[in-house]
Amino acid sequence: MDKFLIDGPSKIKGKVSISGSKNASLPILAATLLFDLPVTIKNLPRVKDISTMLNLLKSLGSKVELSKDKKIAKISNPKNMKTFASYSLVKTMRGSILVLGPLVAKLHKSKTSLPGGCLIGARPVNYHLSALEKLGMNYEIKDGYIIAKSNGKLKGAVIKFPKISVGATENSIIAACLAKGKTVLKNCAIEPEIKDLTNFLNLAGAKIEWIGRTCTINGVNSLKSINYSVMADRIEAGTFCVAATLSKGSLEINNLDPKIISTELNLLKKTGAKINKNKNKISIKGPEKIKPIKNIKTKEFPGIPTDLQAQLMVLMCRANGKSSITENIFENRFMHVAELQRLGANITIKNNKAFIDGNTKFIAAELMSSDLRASVALVLAASVANGKSIINRIYHLDRGYEKIENKLKNIGIKIKRLKK
Ligand code: EPZ
Repeated sequence: MDKFLIDGPSKIKGKVSISGSKNASLPILAATLLFDLPVTIKNLPRVKDISTMLNLLKSLGSKVELSKDKKIAKISNPKNMKTFASYSLVKTMRGSILVLGPLVAKLHKSKTSLPGGCLIGARPVNYHLSALEKLGMNYEIKDGYIIAKSNGKLKGAVIKFPKISVGATENSIIAACLAKGKTVLKNCAIEPEIKDLTNFLNLAGAKIEWIGRTCTINGVNSLKSINYSVMADRIEAGTFCVAATLSKGSLEINNLDPKIISTELNLLKKTGAKINKNKNKISIKGPEKIKPIKNIKTKEFPGIPTDLQAQLMVLMCRANGKSSITENIFENRFMHVAELQRLGANITIKNNKAFIDGNTKFIAAELMSSDLRASVALVLAASVANGKSIINRIYHLDRGYEKIENKLKNIGIKIKRLKK
């Protein structure tokens, strides 16, 4: 397994361009299963999770033609599509569950592996299943598979999600596009990635409307062929904004609409960062003294994203005083804490709350990655630590950050990939 060697401390300076969003690309790629005509998806990030989704689509019979740089995929579906999403593919990425809705909507049956838990929590799919059931899907769970079918087309329904879920909202919207009649989804997640999915579907002829957290979908018979460019990755952008603030550096972040990370930028301003926003660009300069923030709470959009919690914790370790972070989305998303403690961090966990004593002078150590965002947090901490750190299991990073070491090298971080 590849490792990173990071020689700290470094000060960040320069420019970085944000890639396409992984979490917007995944549901959009799953939704291509609804189409009879070819669809072209552009601005895909070159990360492992996207290759996994493309392999899953291929295993279902889709023909995928990738451009040379792998950022554009032309996807066409033959008449005889398959409906089996195997454990071997689904287990490597939970986002694979997003093929269930479109398979049942289009082909009226599917055998899709249950994704299982993961390090950040149990992550069940009960809201996906109960919403699809209300749309007319029947299912049983057998040998770790969801064996699902519908009696012809799905039928529109009124569904209120008991809890806000990104994936369940996406699966239900995709499935409802080809259902008979009107579906009203209440208490939806409204993350920008979901709005990107509904933009894509509407441009292809779907009839989707939003009012607050309510999404109304009027079913159509088919979708038309389109070219669509996926939005920029707001979590990658947030990660680079934290990196610049942390290292007291200055960074120009290009290729993303600053509006989609306003909550994150407002939080960073409170730490003392100086931020300038233009149409498609953010300039950020870290303060000499990072101010602590008393109670950072992760929340569904438009709140602070859970996907930025680990990175913000590294920042708070270097703040000039005590702070705390409450994780409200996943029950076990503090895997990075023990590793940060190995670098010298002073963090205490009580239930879903982390109490952080600031002013940590990180000292280099050998570290272990546990999930995508925890891994990038370790990279950030190692980049401001004194000495050479090794980060193991960086395949987690390759799942979701495009060309991470090149981007970091270009802005002044001394990072090297050690191949196994
Ligand atoms: C999406 O996961 C993202 N993944 C995650 O990104 C992100 O952390 C998460 O949303 C929250 O923003 C993708 O977009 C591919 P949820 P998802 O359904 O859809 C519970 C990353 O690092 N729940 O909104 O799986 C669940 O356990 C990642 O890029 C149920 O109980 O998240 C969690 O506590 C990891 N039953 C909460 O709801 C269900 O059926 C929110 O999960 C579904 C969810």
